[in-house]
Amino acid sequence: MQTKKKIPELRQALKAARAEAKSIALIPTMGNLHEGHLELIRQARRSYDFLVCSIFVNPLQFGANEDLDAYPRTLETDSEKLLAVGCDCLFLPTVTEMYGDNLQQQTEIKVPGLTENFCGRSRPGHFDGVATVVTKLFNIVTPDAAYFGLKDYQQFLVIQKLTSDLALGVEIHGVETQREKSGLAMSSRNHYLSEQQKQNAAALYRSLTDCAAKIEQGNSNFLELEVAAKSYLRDASLKPDYFNICNADNLQAATAATRRIVILAAVHVGNSRLIDNIRFQLS
Ligand code: PAJ
Repeated sequence: MQTKKKIPELRQALKAARAEAKSIALIPTMGNLHEGHLELIRQARRSYDFLVCSIFVNPLQFGANEDLDAYPRTLETDSEKLLAVGCDCLFLPTVTEMYGDNLQQQTEIKVPGLTENFCGRSRPGHFDGVATVVTKLFNIVTPDAAYFGLKDYQQFLVIQKLTSDLALGVEIHGVETQREKSGLAMSSRNHYLSEQQKQNAAALYRSLTDCAAKIEQGNSNFLELEVAAKSYLRDASLKPDYFNICNADNLQAATAATRRIVILAAVHVGNSRLIDNIRFQLS
């Protein structure tokens, strides 16, 4: 596996891959890799010839009071995992390589319509930071495809929309959420949790599966279901940020007529904030 820290070096490696008519897939990450990230790479491996995984803890997507400095950085084990799973090239830029000394004055990408609510409301500017770094990574790598996790479903829709709106010509693949045995979605932020908090956090996925089951059984009193789920989360010592039953295509509030549903949820546990979702189709 090659490791490239500079944009021109990465472009050189990509030129060589293209000269051999290799198809290219990009898997953007912030590192501290777990099975969720590795599943993205495994799926990309099946369909594309040359895989670039980026590890970049993107300051633009962290708010002033968030965990940018504390975010776990585990480069050595990350590299070993990437090698084992068949990644061809690790792109490891510094903040200066990505943004020069121009972080405060970056040209930013805003994706209206999908970013105002849920994580966008709790983390102002977060999705502008995500959209900007992903666009920039797409411009650097110009991949045929990119892989993202459906755990971050709002992020996934934002990236689909920006790719389509800006005609970036990258095929966006979504990969199902990888979970612990308890149901807890894997996340780099789980490392902040004590064992007790991890046990409590498993209630997040239970709240989603319970609510989905009730909807599938015909309950369409969504407001009541949302209130009940938040109370269930509080009983499990979690602090709900939001719990919303939405149309899976546009994240508008679901109505009794909505067929493709996503339930989005976020909770605070100790100092951490965890998100999860469940998607299903009503017949
Ligand atoms: P990060 O949190 O490192 O996640 C990188 C990718 O892994 C994202 O597409 C995310 O949805 C996916 N992922 C995380 N946990 C997962 C799980 N349990 N199952 C399946 N996929 C999972 O998301 C980001 O980084 C950043 O916002 C990024 C897109 C890299 C832009 O900076």
